[in-house]
Amino acid sequence: MLHVENIEKYYGSRNNVTKALDRISFDVAKGEFISIMGASGSGKTTLLNCISTIDTVSAGRILLDGENIAELSDRQLARFRRERLGFVFQDFNLLDTLTLEENIGLALTINHADPQTVKTKVREAAEQLGIQETLDKFPYQVSGGQKQRAACARAMVAGQSLILADEPTGALDSGASKNLLEIMTRMNRDMGATILMVTHDAYSASYASRVLFLKDGRLFNELIRADRTRPVFYHEILDVLALLGGDISDVI
Ligand SMILES: Nc1ncnc2c1ncn2[C@@H]1O[C@H](COP(=O)(O)OP(=O)(O)O)[C@@H](O)[C@H]1O
Ligand SMILES: [Mg+2]
Repeated sequence: MLHVENIEKYYGSRNNVTKALDRISFDVAKGEFISIMGASGSGKTTLLNCISTIDTVSAGRILLDGENIAELSDRQLARFRRERLGFVFQDFNLLDTLTLEENIGLALTINHADPQTVKTKVREAAEQLGIQETLDKFPYQVSGGQKQRAACARAMVAGQSLILADEPTGALDSGASKNLLEIMTRMNRDMGATILMVTHDAYSASYASRVLFLKDGRLFNELIRADRTRPVFYHEILDVLALLGGDISDVI
């Protein structure tokens, strides 16, 4: 579904260049739940922004469903984001002037879906995520966890093929974080969503089926959960993080 090939990203100009991504390659199959980990400044957000077409790569290519995203026109890009990508970001990306119901149904409404169909789909998703009571409220009237679940519902309703999440638990307390991670697990397992989640938190990452580790813009390691339990996987992730903290030349 997603093919990332030798991508590089530089920021700045001639005398002051930051290499944010350094020859990164990986593939994501449909139905995977992948977590991207790394210290602050390791390139996680840059990587996600390049995949989400918010930013462009300096070298290499990214194919989503076989399409090279660098070759799309601005109009095609806007459509592509709306129809194929679901975003669950730390700041929720909900529009303040719309109710949660309107926010959740937004992509469908923009795509001219029948209003009754939109209503039914939004109600179903809200029920699954336990936020049916908040549908008439505006974002400022609900909690962080409820906003986050609305963002998940919006991604579910639009039926987007790839859900991108940047530190989705970053602004939540531990109870709301656990709740959100369980919802994302259900979206992945029961609804077939493919998820790419950036986090610097090992507990959040342990919900994924595969973890990619970034260090200084490079892909440093990869862990696959396979049939291990989440707590066992969590400890393996901590072990890799301990290695990551050391000098990279010691372990390659
Ligand atoms: N817009 C930008 N302009 C210049 N440098 C940037 C920009 N965005 C990120 N960087 C740099 O790129 C590197 C990776 O940043 P980022 O992707 O935000 O890391 P992370 O999300 O892992 O904390 C850092 O060194 C950061 O300072
Ligand atoms: Mg970041």
